Amino acid sequence: MPIPDPAPHEIVIKVMSVGLNPLDLYAIAGRDFIRDRIKLPAILGNDVSGIVEKIGSDVVGLQIGDKVCGIINFPGSDGSITGHGYGEYASAPANQVIKMPAGLSFDMAAGLPVVGLAAKQALEDVGDIKEGQRVLIHGVAGGVGHMAVQIAKQHHTYVFATASSKDVAFVKSLGADEVINYQTQQFEDTAHDMDLVLDTVGGEVMRRSLDVVAPGGLMVTTRVPELVTIEDAIKAKGVQVKIVAVQPNAKQLAELAQQVVDGKIRVNIDNAYPFEQLPQALAHLETGGAVQGKLVVKVHV
Ligand SMILES: NC(=O)c1ccc[n+]([C@@H]2O[C@H](COP(=O)([O-])OP(=O)(O)OC[C@H]3O[C@@H](n4cnc5c(N)ncnc54)[C@H](OP(=O)(O)O)[C@@H]3O)[C@@H](O)[C@H]2O)c1
Repeated sequence: MPIPDPAPHEIVIKVMSVGLNPLDLYAIAGRDFIRDRIKLPAILGNDVSGIVEKIGSDVVGLQIGDKVCGIINFPGSDGSITGHGYGEYASAPANQVIKMPAGLSFDMAAGLPVVGLAAKQALEDVGDIKEGQRVLIHGVAGGVGHMAVQIAKQHHTYVFATASSKDVAFVKSLGADEVINYQTQQFEDTAHDMDLVLDTVGGEVMRRSLDVVAPGGLMVTTRVPELVTIEDAIKAKGVQVKIVAVQPNAKQLAELAQQVVDGKIRVNIDNAYPFEQLPQALAHLETGGAVQGKLVVKVHV
């Protein structure tokens, strides 16, 4: 395909790495809640790091050759969330990227934006997390969860984290105070009276979590389309539940990226696939449990 030209407020990025997300799988599967937001024929991929190749006439603060990362085309200029990051060159609104701090690798910069911002916005903006709280985070071996446990610990909270047997050591290494192996334990037996619950798993985990929220506590879920399935239970139990819908945020992303460089937070790149193996990388993501942290694909090397 030809290298795109930027609109006045856009840049064109030579994509170096792209992070894979469950959202990509939902788009490929044509799930209802995303179908109308993707323009066909679609090049997916919103989590991107790369080098500025071209600059639109209205863009300030960026130069050709700058290393950038962000959640791009979320939404794009056409209103869709077709990311274009699986392509070698992607045009995107310039205000959705930040300059990468020195010392951040392209792979980490592509793995960080969606999960780092989702975790931060869920806990801080939506969850209003506070020192001393009891916090339960589900799915901590995954992308959002592994960032969330580290951010929750930065707030000096006591963190319970759910994961499967093979991930217990990994989750412990992220700083969780108590790791609950959901394959052998019911989380309700250990984690009760929670001030804040972050659900990234959905289904029965989301429903059962309503029972462990303390009076006046809050559950935040990333599993937005599933919330309607527990509306009755939420009403019956009188629990406060909110959703997080991740947004590009330059200030927050810059803060997270600097923390990665400073070693204060870790984005765990489970595997960085070569571009030719994008299908295998997506198949790996689809197995879900086989990933600790993030999968990325190196589009250019
Ligand atoms: N609303 C938003 O803004 C937003 C933003 C980002 C992501 N999301 C959504 O949030 C969800 C999680 O995203 P992600 O990137 O973190 O996905 P992910 O990397 O696939 O992580 C999900 C994790 O949950 C674990 N898991 C599965 N069943 C579990 C259970 N019963 N208890 C505890 N853990 C369990 C999985 O590992 P095992 O199967 O090995 O246990 C996996 O590590 C996805 O649905 C994604 O689309 C929403």
